[in-house]
Amino acid sequence: MDNERSHDPESPEFAMRRAQARKTIDALDPAMRLAEAPAAGPLADPRRRDWFEAVYALAKGDPAAVPWAALAPHPLTRSFVNLQARGLAGLRVLDVGCGLGDNSECFAEAGAQVTAFDLVAASIEWAKRRFPDSPVAYRTADLFDPPQEWRGGFGLVHECYTLQALPGSLLPEALAALAGFLAPGGSLLVISRARDEDEDAAGPPWPLPRSFVAEAERQGLRPLAIEDISAMAGLRSRHWRALFSRAD
Ligand SMILES: C[S@@+](CC[C@H](N)C(=O)[O-])C[C@H]1O[C@@H](n2cnc3c(N)ncnc32)[C@H](O)[C@@H]1O
Repeated sequence: MDNERSHDPESPEFAMRRAQARKTIDALDPAMRLAEAPAAGPLADPRRRDWFEAVYALAKGDPAAVPWAALAPHPLTRSFVNLQARGLAGLRVLDVGCGLGDNSECFAEAGAQVTAFDLVAASIEWAKRRFPDSPVAYRTADLFDPPQEWRGGFGLVHECYTLQALPGSLLPEALAALAGFLAPGGSLLVISRARDEDEDAAGPPWPLPRSFVAEAERQGLRPLAIEDISAMAGLRSRHWRALFSRAD
């Protein structure tokens, strides 16, 4: 960790490092090139594994170089945790695509028994370094090929910004995988940027349209509370905070 570099995401110096890193990783991103030249499609690696690996590798420990690293829980996750606090104590929570671990830690602080995973081993090692005394069980795993023992194992599954980081063609499979983690009576919390149905979705990222709720229903989920949240303090754009239960 370089002590001379600011680790305050609000500082101009951090923002400058982020903007510089962004140029490099955008240039490496086949999905970004496809957005600029759609005729070049389809993506050879729709799950974008190589790109996610490259982001963490190139960052070399600088969170400014990881575009989604806010170094704090997402405000919509934090407010959910604050509202549900008593119900979270002892609950088995799975944080999907956990990145550097801030959301995972937020659930753990509320007393939940948290497992958190990411596709990229470097992100998991980084989260463990940031939170060396954490009770969170950090694991490297793939949403599309998860450990069998996680099936039906969690009272709450949380995902923040991972669905929107995947092309829309993967949404059915991703939602089915998320639903598969739920224990009977369990719920899934999705935090994502939102867009209108007819709005251009030339990602990445690909903000979700409302029809993702109908897709979730097709994948065995029942909507409990779908919040369409306008940009506000701490939130630069429109978001969904969507809570589902298992349909059965
Ligand atoms: C946009 S980031 C969001 C990270 C974190 N949830 C946050 O809000 O800071 C998406 C994360 O999902 C991870 N990811 C992408 N595909 C995945 C997959 N198939 N399985 C598990 N994690 C995945 C990426 O490595 C990345 O850390």
